[in-house]
Amino acid sequence: MKPSLERLAERRKQALRGGGTQRIDAQHARGKLTARERIELLTDEGSFEESGMFVEHRATDFGMDRRRAPGDGVIAGSGAINGRAVFVYAKDFTVFGGSLSDTHAQKIAKLQDMALNNRAPLIGLFDSGGARIQEGVAALAGYGEVFQRNVLASGLIPQISLVMGPCAGGDVYSPALTDFIFMVKDTSYMFVTGPGVVRAVTNETVSAEDLGGASVHTVKSAVADGAYENDVEALLQMRRLVDFLPSSNTSGVPEWPSFDDPERCEASLDSLAPEDPAMPYDIKELIAKTVDEGDFFEIQEAFARNIVIGFGRMEGRTVGFVANQPMVLAGTLDCDASRKAARFVRFCDCFNIPIVTYVDVPGFLPGIAQEYGGLIKHGAKLLYAYAEATVPKVTVITRKAFGGAYDVMASKHLRGDVNYAWPGAEIAVMGAKGAVEIIFRADIGDAEKIAARTREYEERFLSPFVAAERFYIDDIVMPRDTRKRVARALAMLRGKSLKNPWKKHGNIPL
Ligand code: HXC
Repeated sequence: MKPSLERLAERRKQALRGGGTQRIDAQHARGKLTARERIELLTDEGSFEESGMFVEHRATDFGMDRRRAPGDGVIAGSGAINGRAVFVYAKDFTVFGGSLSDTHAQKIAKLQDMALNNRAPLIGLFDSGGARIQEGVAALAGYGEVFQRNVLASGLIPQISLVMGPCAGGDVYSPALTDFIFMVKDTSYMFVTGPGVVRAVTNETVSAEDLGGASVHTVKSAVADGAYENDVEALLQMRRLVDFLPSSNTSGVPEWPSFDDPERCEASLDSLAPEDPAMPYDIKELIAKTVDEGDFFEIQEAFARNIVIGFGRMEGRTVGFVANQPMVLAGTLDCDASRKAARFVRFCDCFNIPIVTYVDVPGFLPGIAQEYGGLIKHGAKLLYAYAEATVPKVTVITRKAFGGAYDVMASKHLRGDVNYAWPGAEIAVMGAKGAVEIIFRADIGDAEKIAARTREYEERFLSPFVAAERFYIDDIVMPRDTRKRVARALAMLRGKSLKNPWKKHGNIPL
């Protein structure tokens, strides 16, 4: 072999060793894969083209001139997921703890530019100690370059972050600017300042897991959109997620072969919503029974469970689902549910993903904590998101649609394109009990009168026909036909083109 070829082979071998066998073994001992192993699992076999394998940092302080590592702690390049182009970078924890240097940031920024110029999703795999401490402000500048590109790419290409180890300090804000953050249970954690700094500043003692583990960010803070048992499961689920996502805001939704008849009738749905309005039922059953092959990718499953959001397909094309969940808090809209669904609606609207909304909502959740928590502002987020969205919007009211929440949940008045109701739907300002107690307060002592007034109210208002008579509802549909009617509506709306008046951008109540 020619010496130059041998030299290349040797340099490549050295680069592929990352931080060395000992650090790779330590990574494996913690149940974590290396950066390259992760990319191999995420992308189609043999599709990944690495760029910048020989990049080295330029720092000289603190003896860094004697410590060089090809790749500089991040593996970057392009590949494919089920044949569709993606750009991927993975922090290599075996090299300086995956910390971000000036050159490490340049590799990420170049990849961000490539992803944007090629209009393909960008996926970051995080496992890092934050800013490269030896580089000082150069590392901070590097973060700034990455953040700026995250923001410019927002709404143009999907950006996904998978946190697979530490993600601390400056490393947290790039994921936070992306569309989705997923974590790996027990091995990953995210925080701006770690347990040591927290103890020093606030005197609170807390473990890394309790401060920023998956159990915190998927349940309490909603920083993360989901968590998986291990690296392998997480990476395979990211492949599944990418299959649902458009490549860009102009690509249209992906279309996969489906063998599920769009006209499929589900007789069991006729008895899904109990007659007794106080009895809960699982709205996820409706979603599972209406999407192609029952395949639903839920987002933020463990947070604000009174609303369900996620991706499914109809006739092989991606649809975003938003559904009140009567099993939790009776499906009311509270602060958390409102902001959870608002962000999802906006994601769908950015990327031209039609939205199907299943409504069973008794209203906004009353309470001091809710009002103090800003229910007005948070509720307005969802209202704003639906009102602003120009994608096809198909709504089915399965049971209750009361008060302001009726308006918010993709009603006709917020440019819902096709609005259906099941025959048992109740569309009104409020439930019968509350209504009668207010408008017939004088009769409250008289049980018989109150019962008669309640029946009268129920008959007059608690049906879908009042709304249908006013054309706020396009049709009253049999529950068993929901898939068929929604699929037909979506097919009809495929050519929808609606533009909001030009503006620099709106001012959503953040
Ligand atoms: C340089 C780092 C590093 C860093 C880790 N390493 N973090 N090198 N800069 N930020 C190196 C370690 O020196 C070590 O090198 C190797 O990575 C593995 O680290 P360990 O500490 O041995 O691993 P572990 O015990 O698993 O602990 C991981 C860790 C810890 C929790 C991430 O390393 C840690 O706390 N690091 C510092 C976190 C931090 O404060 N970062 C700065 C945040 S400030 P060797 O050679 O021994 O293998 C910041 C501000 C930016 O990011 C703000 C921008 C907006």
